[in-house]
Amino acid sequence: PLPFRLAPSILAADHSSLKNGLEIVESLPIEWLHLDIMDGHFVPNLSFGPQTVADLRKRNSSLFFDTHLMLDNPDKHVDAFIDAGADLISIHVEPDYDVAQTLDRIKSAGRSCGVVLNPATPAEAALPFIKDVDLILVMTVWPGFGGQSFIEDTLPKLNLLHSWRMERGLAYRLEVDGGINLETAALCRDQGVDTFVAGTAFFKAPDRAAFLKAIEGAG
Ligand code: DX5
Ligand code: ZN
Repeated sequence: PLPFRLAPSILAADHSSLKNGLEIVESLPIEWLHLDIMDGHFVPNLSFGPQTVADLRKRNSSLFFDTHLMLDNPDKHVDAFIDAGADLISIHVEPDYDVAQTLDRIKSAGRSCGVVLNPATPAEAALPFIKDVDLILVMTVWPGFGGQSFIEDTLPKLNLLHSWRMERGLAYRLEVDGGINLETAALCRDQGVDTFVAGTAFFKAPDRAAFLKAIEGAG
């Protein structure tokens, strides 16, 4: 099985100084940073764009930038996030655009790629791409905001995606995002999840090092 990974979501940090948020992550042996890109159309919120990613990249070249595009037309923006230095770009299957072609574009730039499923989107929606992705992200809240509550109905979907991975000898990471804390992470881990996005639970944790250890050390 893949090593457990925590991907702190910088959306939950203080946006008046994302540099501080980055330094909080850098102060711990964390390898991934989750960057939530929102367009105010696909999701009812706006976050930040390619320049923010590029400037964070300038400040840190070693963190793995796990970039989650919550956009109506991700195909029109992938080049900007490739140029900004994203390491992995994950794109939602729900909007109407050529998902396969966009995944190819990301891979042709030498980056990792993933597909994202909203809570109501069945696991089967990932099947056409399952051999081509490095990661499948299952939203465990309706995307748009941090601090929401975990949707338990997503657990069977996680189990299915994990069993497909085993049956077909695939090695994509299975990532969850939204309402992840130590309790909900344990529920997800029982279904085969190996990659955990945490915004609020990480940045508001009384002991972030203990939180990291509980997430990544549970193996
Ligand atoms: C929601 C984002 C999540 C969110 C997670 O649209 O995709 O990454 O920032 O925040 P928490 O961990 O606070 O639910
Ligand atoms: Zn996210």
